[in-house]
Amino acid sequence: MNLTREERQMLNGEQGEGIQKAMEILVALGEIYGAEKMIEIKSAQVAGVSYKNLGDVGLEFLKEWTEKGAMVRVPTTLNPAGMDLRDWKRLGIPDGFAEKQLMVVKAYERMGIKPTCTCTPYLVGNLPVFGDHIAWSESSAVCYANSVIGARTNREGGPSALAAAITGRTPLHGYHLEENRRGEFIIEVKCKLDKISDFGALGYLVGKKIGHSVPYFEGIRRADMDQLKALGAALAASGAVALFHVEGITPEARSHDMISEDAETIVIDSLEEAYWELNSKTREIDLVAIGCPHASLAEIKRVIDLLKGREVKTRLWITTSSEVKEMAKRKGLLGEIERSGADIVADTCMIVAPIEKLGFRNMATNAGKAAFYAPSHCGLNVRFGSLEKCIEAAVTERWEW
Ligand code: F3S
Repeated sequence: MNLTREERQMLNGEQGEGIQKAMEILVALGEIYGAEKMIEIKSAQVAGVSYKNLGDVGLEFLKEWTEKGAMVRVPTTLNPAGMDLRDWKRLGIPDGFAEKQLMVVKAYERMGIKPTCTCTPYLVGNLPVFGDHIAWSESSAVCYANSVIGARTNREGGPSALAAAITGRTPLHGYHLEENRRGEFIIEVKCKLDKISDFGALGYLVGKKIGHSVPYFEGIRRADMDQLKALGAALAASGAVALFHVEGITPEARSHDMISEDAETIVIDSLEEAYWELNSKTREIDLVAIGCPHASLAEIKRVIDLLKGREVKTRLWITTSSEVKEMAKRKGLLGEIERSGADIVADTCMIVAPIEKLGFRNMATNAGKAAFYAPSHCGLNVRFGSLEKCIEAAVTERWEW
């Protein structure tokens, strides 16, 4: 790779061992992907935060890197941790797990990273603009940043995003290059999309069919920010999609120039297959989980509207960042949620928390991504449907099909 003088100094260890290790990772990746050079990034978002996923090996790896004195040089946020960093005891997280989780977050803080643990960093200040090069690793956030904002990032792994944060660089390849951002499949959507769960169902179906390719959606008339984040999260979960376009809605989908000449067309005229495949047969529900990706204030308000002052019988978790939880508190929304017996749970989510150790068996959710991962990652039976159905399940403990 063609490295600048400063990048060579980083690689030679002239700027310290921690930076050298980071540059070695990036050069190795650049060579694998045929990158000619590095590019400067505006921000980073680092996955590999939940102790449930990292384990002791990951924690040791992080501690070693920290001891080498590495500090981040661009604004950097973290992916969700395995627990609410303040309220973990009340939510039943075991002490041993909490101790290790706090050590993980501490290690990142020692590198200069603010402990903002969220998969929606763009809602709380880590907000790139169109054309910015960034290095993010949470797959749903990558999809949102590339597609809805028009920033440029590959699907980084945790270590490569951290290496990019430490050096302020990433290898120039993949979605950083204009020529790789064109739609490779045209997805003609011929069914009605009303609710967030419909967007998750669509993402699940399309991701399964196209893997890591770039879809160009036609026929979606309207989609708000929360629906687009649900679509991207599901595309990235059942497939490995990092970028999508929606005609007339996302910023790079202004013309058919953004579609490859040999793009195949896939027609989606029903979401039934997704609802069928993502649903188990359970009728009893003990956990309702909303906020995958992390909930916005609008989604929290919608839950309050649907609860209509009723008390929940199951546990109801709305997962979000600590910043959105704080905003909800200031607006009086947290009080309303808690009066109904539900929780706004910060810094974590139903998938990366050790939910199986909390005694839950049957979860309802309106998120395609959570419905996709919960059986394999958490051993839960899942019911997947609209927010309305999820809230009814929370107040009745039953899923009505
Ligand atoms: Fe975020 Fe967890 Fe879903 S990290 S995208 S809430 S699985």
